[in-house]
Amino acid sequence: MTKIKNALEYRFGDNFPDTPDALSASDFPAKLAQRRSHRKFKSDPVDSELVRSLCALALCAPSKSDLQQRDIVIIEDADQRAKLLETIPGNAWMDEAPAYLVFCANNRRQRQLNQWREVPFANDHIDPFFNASVDAGIALATFMMAAESIGLGCCPVSAIRNKPHEVSDLLGLPDHVFPVAGLGLGWPAEEGEISMRLPLASTVHTDRFSEDGLSDQIRSYDERRAEAQPFSYQRAADQFGEVENYGWSDDKARQYSVPERKDFGAFVRAKGFDLS
Ligand SMILES: Cc1cc2nc3c(=O)[nH]c(=O)nc-3n(C[C@H](O)[C@H](O)[C@H](O)COP(=O)(O)O)c2cc1C
Repeated sequence: MTKIKNALEYRFGDNFPDTPDALSASDFPAKLAQRRSHRKFKSDPVDSELVRSLCALALCAPSKSDLQQRDIVIIEDADQRAKLLETIPGNAWMDEAPAYLVFCANNRRQRQLNQWREVPFANDHIDPFFNASVDAGIALATFMMAAESIGLGCCPVSAIRNKPHEVSDLLGLPDHVFPVAGLGLGWPAEEGEISMRLPLASTVHTDRFSEDGLSDQIRSYDERRAEAQPFSYQRAADQFGEVENYGWSDDKARQYSVPERKDFGAFVRAKGFDLS
């Protein structure tokens, strides 16, 4: 139980009361409290039957209205994998991941049901895009929790959407199916470290949304993080200069000073979605 308390206090920087006894019913909460993404893997393969079983567990997750609008593409073929990684350079660690998957949103099947049952499809607006994206995200997170619970390590890859047309063509994704995130998977080569989070005061609200004290909370999060996990470099220093006490908020502000995937809306529209 102290494992949970210690991990949460380190991660969130808050004082947590003694961990409720109910959380000792399983070792999963302690694993979740200490979880982290992994980008360095042993060369040992991950058995393909294990990967398929983890997919099944991921797809046990809830889905909006039981519509089941998410699919997983397991990349097994070496050529296919090489082509995929060539398409999205810049994440060198992915080359080393023994297994690789792509989580997709799939609103096509629903449209097929309407067509096959000769029932009009009356939802050509943004909601199906949103629902399918959320379903895919939930499946991704559930896969990660299942994998991490048995000691596997993984890291999602949003870079898969840097070249959405190319990735979509390579994977043969039809209209109304699109990649949400890739996932590199393997047996971790190193322990990794817990990544700190904003305090619950900023992110968990009671009854009504509140931003009281947010700016101060972020300032102290920056300081806490800079002390324990300083950034190894300052992003876009040529444009914004080097600042003292460069923190998470500086890094995220600088990250979003550059457009990211501005073409994604056009890609999604080209996939047949009406986003109005
Ligand atoms: C949807 C999604 C996409 C991500 N894409 C990438 C990526 O392209 N490259 C990468 O190195 N990490 C990626 N990550 C991992 C995050 O950087 C990581 O979760 C975050 O830094 C917090 O660290 P933690 O998972 O160890 O707590 C992604 C995470 C999510 C949830």
